[in-house]
Amino acid sequence: MNVVPFIFNGSSHPLLCQEVAAILGTSLGKRELGVFPDSEIFLEIQEPVKGHPVFVLQSMEDPNFHLVELLILLDALKRAWVESITVVLPYFAYARQDRQDKAGTAITAKLMADLLTTAGANRLIAMDLHSEQIEGFFNIPVHHLLSNKVLIPVCRSLKLEDPVIVAPDKGAIKFAAQYAAEFNAPLATIEKERKTSFDVEMRLFVGNVKGKSVILVDDMCSTGGTLVQAAKACAELGARRIIAVAAHGLFAANAMEKIEKSPIELFITTNSLPCSEKVQKHPKMRIVSIAPLLAEAMGHL
Ligand code: R5P
Repeated sequence: MNVVPFIFNGSSHPLLCQEVAAILGTSLGKRELGVFPDSEIFLEIQEPVKGHPVFVLQSMEDPNFHLVELLILLDALKRAWVESITVVLPYFAYARQDRQDKAGTAITAKLMADLLTTAGANRLIAMDLHSEQIEGFFNIPVHHLLSNKVLIPVCRSLKLEDPVIVAPDKGAIKFAAQYAAEFNAPLATIEKERKTSFDVEMRLFVGNVKGKSVILVDDMCSTGGTLVQAAKACAELGARRIIAVAAHGLFAANAMEKIEKSPIELFITTNSLPCSEKVQKHPKMRIVSIAPLLAEAMGHL
């Protein structure tokens, strides 16, 4: 595809959307987006989209609001007779509930897939989905991007001596393994027990970090509990330097405070979600833009 079609965005991440559109040499599609006094969302497409393929870019910083906004955007485009809709989700919320780990719980990742396709998505571009089975929850093609393409060069530029890659829990092993292969470095793992949504405990450490430069890798940082506890465990075991890498930086609750006080020397993440000024300017933080990655994927479809 040589001509870039219309790109519409919700309200979640205007900076990233503008950056992507600029790389693709276009501007964002005009739409009126508002909220009624009773907090219902209103949307009107203001471009001649009939018969055209369109992209819809939306991240999910505020998952409940941004999901409904996205669904309304898809429905409006579908009813405007577009040719096809490719949804670009830099951060796919509700992905962690990807199985029924106990009776009475929902599989929200599957529900998200059903909602998006029902609303009108014909294709999905997503980045670092929490687990690979989520791709299979969709009956539409999914293009799964990996942020390591933009994060690994930043890690390399640190010229770390004697690196060891550490997965802070079982779920992170697949992400950490990509880094271990790239750095030709050993992979260490930790067994994590989640006590509450705010509290985790590191139970078993497998591997050697003594005197080494640790790169801790996870798909996301929410409250910071996982990466900070893992960093503490590495420091106690004699790690010389500790770098943390996460594809998605949610930085919920007091995550930044925890990171600040932790032995993490540098925290590298992407702008898949908008970052506050505090996060962006923090000396421990390095935010890498995924706009070129998204633009490349969109340009090749
Ligand atoms: C869990 O399965 C995820 O991969 C992350 O480890 C987790 O969501 C991080 O959350 P927090 O930063 O609150 O520990």
